[in-house]
Amino acid sequence: ASQPVNVTVTGAAGQIGYALLFRVASGQLLGPDTPVRLRLLEVPQAVKAAEGTAMELDDCAFPLLAGIDIHDDATAAFDGVNVALLVGARPRTAGMERGDLLSANGGIFGPQGAAINAGAADDVRVLVVGNPANTNAWIAAQHAPDVPAARFTAMTRLDHNRAVAQLAARTGASVDDIRRVTIWGNHSATQYPDVSHATIGFRPAREVVGDDAWLSDTFIPTVAKRGAAIIEARGASSAASAANAAIDHVHTWVHGTPEGDWTSAGIVSDGSYGVPEGLVSSFPVTSSGGEWQIVPDLDIDDASRARIDASVAELVEEREAVRALGLV
Ligand code: NAI
Repeated sequence: ASQPVNVTVTGAAGQIGYALLFRVASGQLLGPDTPVRLRLLEVPQAVKAAEGTAMELDDCAFPLLAGIDIHDDATAAFDGVNVALLVGARPRTAGMERGDLLSANGGIFGPQGAAINAGAADDVRVLVVGNPANTNAWIAAQHAPDVPAARFTAMTRLDHNRAVAQLAARTGASVDDIRRVTIWGNHSATQYPDVSHATIGFRPAREVVGDDAWLSDTFIPTVAKRGAAIIEARGASSAASAANAAIDHVHTWVHGTPEGDWTSAGIVSDGSYGVPEGLVSSFPVTSSGGEWQIVPDLDIDDASRARIDASVAELVEEREAVRALGLV
């Protein structure tokens, strides 16, 4: 068998952590031939809960699980890491200003970026799930000058999967028949779920849907506000679907996108589509050879342009706020 891959999960005792770790350990993240060694990072007061999860992981007797270590120190948790899933973050609580939110998260993702810089394996891949995910990924990358910036990514796969599911429900198509959906911009309410280039059963999605008003007035806000709708219905935020999207993101990164399709991921902009270079923004992406590529040369109509620009403007504001706070 091959050598175990070191997978570090932060926020391991949280909701998403609980939905994620068992799937990683069962082989769904990296495939059935790759053993994994889990490193769980938590804050000191949640280490005991992480130990409980580790006991349950043991009790699954997963053949691919080569070991579990639990840490409350980032330097140790990221030593030798190959895949880093940064889930733990400071959530926005009632009345919290954006500056406070960014400060709290800068205090988490700056040191974690530095720890990755100091100790990660050469092939490290980082997925930030904890919100504000794009800006947290950007902060971490700023603290990791020796790691190629392209290794820092933010999760918009949940938004992507939500968009595919909404289209399937509306048209009766199977999710497998829906291709080339794109999430642009920030993982926030300003994101732009774009079906301009999407196909359903090889026909243009817009034609199959046959209702432009539904696309702009129902589909887009339903996808963008789905997180709030889940909280409202469930009484807790989306965790299993978020964990599923994290699995999908890394699996696609490592194993590639299917021919003729693409997905969405928050990656460092190379200036494509007018997104300022260096920002972590969601794009239409393919993956091959373990690297993301932005899908080139798509026509962007005026309505799409305005929506992309609005979400990217929010990313620029977040970056400037982080700089003004002296967090990078
Ligand atoms: P949760 O509150 O259940 O768990 C978060 C865990 O992170 C807690 O156990 C906490 O102790 C831990 N944590 C906090 N600071 C830490 C640090 N410095 N190091 C290690 N662990 C730390 O939250 P949940 O539901 O698991 O969500 C986690 C994050 O994922 C949130 O920021 C949430 O907004 C975000 N999220 C992102 C989505 C996306 O699509 N990008 C979708 C859903 C959630």
